[in-house]
Amino acid sequence: MTTLAPETAAPLTAPATAPLTAPPTARLVDPELYATGDPYPIWRWMRDHDPVHRHEAAEYPGFWSVTRYDDVRAVYQDARVFSSARGILLRPRAHGEDPGGGRTLALTDPPRHKALRSLVADWFTTRSVRALEDAMRGAVRDVVARAVELGECDFVTDVAARLPLYVICRLMGVPAHEQEMLFALTSRAFGAGRPEDRSIAHQEIMGYFVELMYRRMDEPADDLVSALVNGEVDGELLSEEDVLLNCDNLLVGGTENVRLAVSGGMSTFLDRPGDWERLRADRGLMPAAVEEVLRWTSSATHILRTVTEPVELGGRLLAEGDRVVLWTPSANRDERYFTDPDVFDLTRRPNRHLALGAGEHFCLGAMMTRTEMRILFEELLGSVRAIERTGPEVPVRSIVVNGLESLPVRMTAR
Ligand code: HEM
Repeated sequence: MTTLAPETAAPLTAPATAPLTAPPTARLVDPELYATGDPYPIWRWMRDHDPVHRHEAAEYPGFWSVTRYDDVRAVYQDARVFSSARGILLRPRAHGEDPGGGRTLALTDPPRHKALRSLVADWFTTRSVRALEDAMRGAVRDVVARAVELGECDFVTDVAARLPLYVICRLMGVPAHEQEMLFALTSRAFGAGRPEDRSIAHQEIMGYFVELMYRRMDEPADDLVSALVNGEVDGELLSEEDVLLNCDNLLVGGTENVRLAVSGGMSTFLDRPGDWERLRADRGLMPAAVEEVLRWTSSATHILRTVTEPVELGGRLLAEGDRVVLWTPSANRDERYFTDPDVFDLTRRPNRHLALGAGEHFCLGAMMTRTEMRILFEELLGSVRAIERTGPEVPVRSIVVNGLESLPVRMTAR
């Protein structure tokens, strides 16, 4: 395995001390910061000096940045005061309100949220995930064998993206012979292409789900799309548009973050071959390793809430209607909560990171995510002797998710 950085316990980011003068906090909404810069020193300064920081309206409406672990957790835990119904991501002012507001699972407040969540929750229980394990392992073996056969490949699209898409397609009832087509579409929709091409691919995905939805109306099956089509909330069926928005939510939620966490984790292991070999020698470390990869990658960069009544947070008074932005990677590197937060520690325990959120909207796919990551890393350790970088990795340019767009590697079979 190639070592691109010396294998030390030194921080990969974040300087040892935060500067006293305010860094350019407005850059947090500049996607370029995440592609070519380093947001960690800015977050660190904010945690130390202005943990609930006001950003005045510009391209985005005005909002508060929340950067400390305890404050982020407090917001997550109070779904009544901190609402999701007006969107959970920053949207440029020009884009208006989120069309999914009050309609998709992630963008619904209690009590409706509970009813909507219970329509789909059965597919994500420990039991359901366990029942899928053998199929997941089979799928991963095929993916890894194919990547090894290719010799050189892009770890992000050829490996990391495959398993989560396979799983969510299976849950949603996408027939096996249509999965490859959907995979190609999602690669275009979430890949590095031109925005117009990405948007066309997204439209085509929605078109596909319209068709699948009608098929399931005629012939219900044991899958998520049928559950959404036939399920009732407050005694009423969901509208067709609500079904589609929720399908989109599940597809994006189920694929994008796992891809980013797995490829970010792989990149970290490539920089720390000692950790990878340690994991190979002691598989008992796997659960802790998966949690540390989740904390370290914190791929959901921010989550937004809207204040429903005046409330105090971190010594600031927030008014009704204020937007609050939770910076997940910052909370997960808060030195007030984690020991040596800038060290990637394979054995970290406890590790109560917030990468999967918390409270009412805690990630529905959490169990699925942990299982997918474990199986993928296990299969790579078991059947691949060496993974080497063959070119520079390319980071995603976004303020919503962070991680890698591509990670060129060569994989050699054992
Ligand atoms: C590394 C992988 C993942 C990360 C980092 C992640 C992150 C998150 C976060 C931070 C939230 C909370 C959003 C909020 O509070 O507003 C969330 C919610 C959600 N996630 Fe995940 N997620 C991952 C994987 C998955 C997978 C595999 C699925 C589905 C198969 C999934 C489906 C969902 C859904 C449906 C919600 C909304 C839950 C609700 O509002 O009740 N996620 N996720």
